[in-house]
Amino acid sequence: MLEVADRLSDNEALSGVAASTGSGGPAALNAINHWVPHNLVMRDAWFPLAHATGVGKKPVRRAIYSHPFFLWREDGVAVASEFHPNEKQSRASSPFTDARGRYPVMERYGYVWGWFGQPESADPVHLPSLPFLPPNGGLPGHMIGTVRFDCSAPISLENLIDLTHADFLHANITGDEKSESESIETFFDSESITMVRTCTGKSVAPVMKFFSGIKQPTQNIRQVIRIYLRSHCAIAYGRFTPGDDVPLFHPCVPETRDRTRLDYAMNTSHAGLLFRHVMPKASYMVSRQDSSMTSPQSPRYMRDTNRKDLHSRFDAPGQRYRMLMMDIANRQDAGDFAYRDDVSADCSDLIGLRKELFRY
Ligand SMILES: [Fe+2]
Repeated sequence: MLEVADRLSDNEALSGVAASTGSGGPAALNAINHWVPHNLVMRDAWFPLAHATGVGKKPVRRAIYSHPFFLWREDGVAVASEFHPNEKQSRASSPFTDARGRYPVMERYGYVWGWFGQPESADPVHLPSLPFLPPNGGLPGHMIGTVRFDCSAPISLENLIDLTHADFLHANITGDEKSESESIETFFDSESITMVRTCTGKSVAPVMKFFSGIKQPTQNIRQVIRIYLRSHCAIAYGRFTPGDDVPLFHPCVPETRDRTRLDYAMNTSHAGLLFRHVMPKASYMVSRQDSSMTSPQSPRYMRDTNRKDLHSRFDAPGQRYRMLMMDIANRQDAGDFAYRDDVSADCSDLIGLRKELFRY
């Protein structure tokens, strides 16, 4: 079993991160510890604003960084506007909309996606690859849901990518920290980061004991968190042997700088009756546990302070996440909004998807 309490100093933890990129240790360390997620505004990205089934003829209101997005359908086709259709257009119009106040919008994977950025740059090629969701939607209602976090969206994602937190915070659902071996790997490019956690002989997740009928005391797990940085979208894909796959789409839309909306989808179509129906609903319990940690944390990151962040050796993905987000923000501050890497390329192999279970 690995000791999570085995903490390294900031310098030691980061030296691993910095060495792997050659991006200057002390400077990178300084940047990571002066992380102010509330100041990050990502432009030129698709955000999953609503489940497709939540958008009909009657407008619903969503927001990205407090910019209103009204969504409705005209002849069945989703539209996104900064104005309610009955509203007199007295406000100044956003530079991110066309002459009618409309944002670029598209529908895929059971979501209505809005483009926040230069309208001419909106292109389906910048839509994240989500290979376990049916491209044309249609998951049953019990596999989707909505939760909210009173915290800045990057804090929520940073919490997610440090998956070792689950052993403590969600032990009653996903199992405790006891395992024979554990490894954490990080893969990244300029637009995404992927963390792979592999454990052997880990305590069986209680939810699988009860709802998948697993009798053995331990299981081997491979859990992947993949974050599309600009879109604030995460894939959380877990393979449990023995056990069921847990394929969760976990978007963290920054409705405001310190409020996050998570319209999740968990595709348990492949699993048995009980697990198929119960597991997606566990998100409500899990998110309350997460919120108990991240909500008090968020205000502490609103300003740059002399706060001393401690990092363990399991934090490399979280530290990398901070660096990559700041890299994009710095590029955008300098007027560079181009994508250097392809987010829509199929990531099935990278996340180790059991493709036979998800043929679309
Ligand atoms: Fe969590």
